[in-house]
Amino acid sequence: MKGLILSGGEGTRLRPLTYSQQKQLIPVANKPVLFYGIEGLIEAGIKDIGIIVGPNKEQVENAVNNAKFNATFKFIYQDAPRGLAHAVKIAKKFIGDESFVMYLGDNILMQSLNDFVNGFEESDESARILLCPVDDPSRYGVAKVNEKGEVIKLVEKPKEFISNLGLIGVYAFKNKIFDACDAIKPSWRNELEITDAIQWLINNKFKVPARITNGWWKDTGKAEDMIDANRLILDSLKEQNLGNVENTKIEGRVFIDRDSKISNSTVRGPVIIGKNCEIENSYIGPYTSIGNFCKLNNTEIENSIVLDKAEISEVRKIYDSLIGKEVKIFKKQTIPKGKKFVVGDRSILEI
Ligand code: TTP
Repeated sequence: MKGLILSGGEGTRLRPLTYSQQKQLIPVANKPVLFYGIEGLIEAGIKDIGIIVGPNKEQVENAVNNAKFNATFKFIYQDAPRGLAHAVKIAKKFIGDESFVMYLGDNILMQSLNDFVNGFEESDESARILLCPVDDPSRYGVAKVNEKGEVIKLVEKPKEFISNLGLIGVYAFKNKIFDACDAIKPSWRNELEITDAIQWLINNKFKVPARITNGWWKDTGKAEDMIDANRLILDSLKEQNLGNVENTKIEGRVFIDRDSKISNSTVRGPVIIGKNCEIENSYIGPYTSIGNFCKLNNTEIENSIVLDKAEISEVRKIYDSLIGKEVKIFKKQTIPKGKKFVVGDRSILEI
């Protein structure tokens, strides 16, 4: 069985962070979102993995290759986000005759994939999909399932209610999916939809059962989702201190990576702090991830993600925030005439 992870797309909902970085590489609890999917596949015994990459392909390739996973990777270039079924089509040569698990690279699942994958290869199923009850079905692809647990209808972002079972970004497919992807036409948003391809299988009497999970999963498409996912992952953080801590109160589970210096501060976990950070006279509150080479001085922050090389000085009460790489936030030392900003396109500032 092979794996196919989708790490293309434009990530428009995560601008401006995605102007300089592929969205699946944005870290949650100091690990790129994409790596959670790769680790999930490897843990389920899938070690031959294709990764769909878009315009930032070198970024994704370098990050994956540098991480030295115990798996082999084939990077498959997609010129534009033409839809999930388009991604399947261009992976046909890589997949060959095998069955495969497709995983959306911006999704994080807490549960193991083993149960979902078990028995699929030997079964007479053409596809298997994973569903989870959702509060707002109109935001998701949803599926209607009969009493035998078979999928009978799939709709992408339904305007009218058909079911509250949302499609989680994990699917198992046999080769028939390539015929289905060839048979369908682009949707109103000009994408080849995987829901249409699966519906084609169902309409042509191929077996598509669903598995339902109540475990948590997150589609990290928006900043709020990233912060939510960060909280969920940090909930199972293991504490360790590899840094240099002076005159600082550490409460709860806190992970401090090597060569980071923390002085005259309070850190209330769960909190993860990356390598080579300098933190002084600050408060780092629960559910915060601080990347590598960050500097925080006289600052209070909680429930937030701070990416590598950010510098924050004399800013009180930062919360629910996603702060990009090399961002500088500081208080002007002289009495200001007003507020002064040098802010990238599409940034969101609440002041
Ligand atoms: P989406 O979140 O649906 O799309 P997107 O990444 O373009 O995001 P946005 O809506 O903010 O612009 O995509 C789900 C996942 O699949 C995501 O990891 C990107 C990936 N993807 C591809 O690799 N190729 C594609 O053609 C599409 C549509 C998505």
